[in-house]
Amino acid sequence: MNVHAPALANAHLPDEQTSAFARDVIAGLSQQPKRLSPKYFYDATGSELFEQITRLPEYYPTRTELGILQDCGLEIAATIPEGAALIEFGAGATTKVRLLLKSCAFGSYVPVDISGDFLNGQADVLRKDFPELAVHPVVADFTTPFALPDAIKDMPKVGFFPGSTIGNFEPHEACGFLRSARGILGPGALMIVGADLEKDERMLQDAYNDAAGVTARFNLNLLVRINRELGGNFDVSAFVHRAIYNREQHRIEMHLVSRKSQSARLLGTTFAFRTGESIHTECSYKYSVERFGALARGSGWKVLKTWTDAENLFSVHALVAEA
Ligand code: AVJ
Repeated sequence: MNVHAPALANAHLPDEQTSAFARDVIAGLSQQPKRLSPKYFYDATGSELFEQITRLPEYYPTRTELGILQDCGLEIAATIPEGAALIEFGAGATTKVRLLLKSCAFGSYVPVDISGDFLNGQADVLRKDFPELAVHPVVADFTTPFALPDAIKDMPKVGFFPGSTIGNFEPHEACGFLRSARGILGPGALMIVGADLEKDERMLQDAYNDAAGVTARFNLNLLVRINRELGGNFDVSAFVHRAIYNREQHRIEMHLVSRKSQSARLLGTTFAFRTGESIHTECSYKYSVERFGALARGSGWKVLKTWTDAENLFSVHALVAEA
């Protein structure tokens, strides 16, 4: 138990980010049903666990998307004007962007991420490996409007949003994000977006309920993080991971389910849990090619081309901004 931890003492995040985390956690746990945002999964431990997830035998999305970017590199390159600037919304591991940078003649790369240290470290490595490429990292929350660097203002713009990160948004939020991206990138822009496809339910369930229990640890780590960073006293062992496919809503839902009647306290507030009560921690929406096309059209884009793998597990779409 962490009862003596001072509220908001946290060496890892600047104060305003810590208080946003605190506000969101308090607000989410005060709702009925209780919920927490998946954007808080990714502290150092969570990011490492996610890397492990991407290598699990059951978790097909990462390797399938990499396969598409590899196999269709030339076709993707054919849609992209020479000397364009590639703007990546949220920049994690550079594995995917490296494939694009190899197959397409980009003049400039702009990774956008909230985590500045990570971004700059990554930029240095890319500059070494791609000496011709101008790398201009932007530290910003990519879900809100931000300014592009002056250095790329006269270049054609290509957005990049891989990994089915778009699946974490509610459909109306995904629409808002694509609209905002169109505004940021400007007229004539292109956008390459990865989206997980709807498929056999068994395969989806397995991908989020891996046999090794890594996804369970990833989900439960959110409570560990709340205990450490917000001085919470969650009994992590009294919650279990649950992932289900919600067919009507076309989404995987992840939950943390209370094993017993209990309460947890953080920042002066007590939250009570019934036996079996859940905290909804993530939605991962799955899109058919048709439904993704409708989403794009509804948010100011047109689908130029769609690539999928041979088993139809994952899709990569090239979008062009509507005038
Ligand atoms: C990073 C949002 C694409 O939804 O598959 C993986 C996150 N959650 N396993 C996904 C995740 C559980 C992942 N995204």
